[in-house]
Amino acid sequence: CGIVGYIGFRDAYPIVIKGLHRLEYRGYDSAGVALLNKDEELKVYKKAGKVSDLENFVKDIDTTSTIGMGHTRWATHGAPSDRNSHPHSSGNRKLTIIHNGIIENYSSIKEALLAKGHVFLSDTDTEVLIHLIEDIQSETGLDLREAVRVALNRVIGAYAIVIMSEDAPDELIAARKGSPMVIGVGKGEYFVASDATPIVEYTKNVIYLNDNEIAYIRRDDLLIKNIDNTVQTPYIQKLELQLEMLEKGGYDHFMLKEIYEQPRSVRDCLRGRIYPQQGKVQLGGVKEYVEKLKNVDRIIIVACGTSWHAGLVGEYLIEEYARVPVEVEYASEFRYRNPIITEKDLVIAISQSGETADTMAAIELAKEKGATIFGICNVVGASIPRLSHAGVYTHAGPEIGVASTKAFTAQVTALTLMAFYIAQQRGTITESKLIEYLTELNEIPTLIEKTLKTNDHVQIIADKFKDSTNCLFLGRGSSFPVALEGALKLKEISYIHAEGYPAAEMKHGPIALIDEDMPVVFIATKNSSYEKVISNIQEVRARGGHVIAIVSEGDTVVRDMADYVIEIPQTSEAFVPLLATIPLQLLSYHIAVMRGCNVDQPRNLAKSVTVE
Ligand code: G6P
Repeated sequence: CGIVGYIGFRDAYPIVIKGLHRLEYRGYDSAGVALLNKDEELKVYKKAGKVSDLENFVKDIDTTSTIGMGHTRWATHGAPSDRNSHPHSSGNRKLTIIHNGIIENYSSIKEALLAKGHVFLSDTDTEVLIHLIEDIQSETGLDLREAVRVALNRVIGAYAIVIMSEDAPDELIAARKGSPMVIGVGKGEYFVASDATPIVEYTKNVIYLNDNEIAYIRRDDLLIKNIDNTVQTPYIQKLELQLEMLEKGGYDHFMLKEIYEQPRSVRDCLRGRIYPQQGKVQLGGVKEYVEKLKNVDRIIIVACGTSWHAGLVGEYLIEEYARVPVEVEYASEFRYRNPIITEKDLVIAISQSGETADTMAAIELAKEKGATIFGICNVVGASIPRLSHAGVYTHAGPEIGVASTKAFTAQVTALTLMAFYIAQQRGTITESKLIEYLTELNEIPTLIEKTLKTNDHVQIIADKFKDSTNCLFLGRGSSFPVALEGALKLKEISYIHAEGYPAAEMKHGPIALIDEDMPVVFIATKNSSYEKVISNIQEVRARGGHVIAIVSEGDTVVRDMADYVIEIPQTSEAFVPLLATIPLQLLSYHIAVMRGCNVDQPRNLAKSVTVE
């Protein structure tokens, strides 16, 4: 979900709406705003649907106000509907709230409030919180600031909230616990948002609220207190984000723009970290843990979704080069099964957003058991890097398209660096080999650029298969996770059912699905299992399936067997995922566009899943 708020001298509504559009990529099944009209009455407008539906709904209403807030929602409690959209108001309608996260003990609080006669208009946990605040005020006579603080001490769960009130018309109250909140500091104005994207065009000075902090924000005054009532000194940081990074820059979709950004994003991830001539990798963010890396005897990677796929590539690379056993776990599974984990373990958490609730919970569990935690994240200053002991930022830049593309290749790049770094510390790789590999890795951004030239050809292939209902993606070794990621991309944005499989496993089940209507995408580059993959291709051909193969440049053997080939530059096995992923991203993209799907905001998905 997304949060944005404004207090200052400008008209709040356009700022809030623009901010909601910028945040729409995080969740988008309903949207709402709260404003204070000229009689200092709170006005709340909300609508199921997109931000543009809300705008249409509000278009004939006077929205003048210099204080306001808005929310885009991705349903957790309650179906998407007008009444479940945020903001939610208290019974006397004088208080209103927007909220990201979950109030876990809402049902017991709700019961108590119902018994006292409170009437609820939605099914949400959020509405319970605002009623609780109202109730505390009326029971105790506390002012709003104190009532909010007392209420937050009573709730269990995760939240980022902003509150507006008729009784305190010159103030926004914001608070966070486990769900991010950024305050933009202007001159005579403040902005609040769940990430910096709605703020960057107005100010570069930001404060990231910490967990358990409450901010009382007036036009010319900001007070931050801890939930236990101690005053905190705000730390103002400079945003590195540029506005251009958040715009489409001439591309039809963010996804396409982000696919094309990969030569740059991978280069940015490598920058300052590799020294090919000296055969040296430097990872400043983990350098204090060199001793740990030398002695570690197990690494556990935890992640969700696309980041989990990157983790699988990481497993392959770390085991191959650093010779440390690696386990890759879905964060959501790991945390619920009493995992065996000790102080000796190193846990690497991978997350684009740095906010995924399951991944955070997995980290907390591993931390409790004494493990060392590294984060591999894209969003600077997010919760996961803050929870981790050390880590590596992927530096892919903001990713707006919900289907992850450049963040994935940057994660794989960071894991490649990590594998070589650990190998270097443990002496499992020779200097001359490192020189060789790093020289090649340094060229990967240029090879990605070359790989992007397959776009027109991929578009032709997309046109042939756009009406398929099923699709298989097959690969071996480090290309197996690439197959999984290829299948996930296709499902996510084109709603075609797709599965990724290790190519050899095909004969143990999926082969039964193959008929004349089934496209099968192979990653068949000239690497260690090339010959074996060729046999798998023949097995598909023999059953009438259509083969689309990603091959190394100049390959003629597969060309003669496959219906379509997509050539990518020849590279070492270690780097194949960084290239082979690109045409698969393009394939899904074009198929989704041809099917008329909403590429950047596929149905039911959210960019960052901050619920468990
Ligand atoms: C959501 C997104 C996926 C993403 C996953 C993990 O499901 O739609 O694209 O891979 O969360 O997100 P993270 O930010 O932790 O990488």
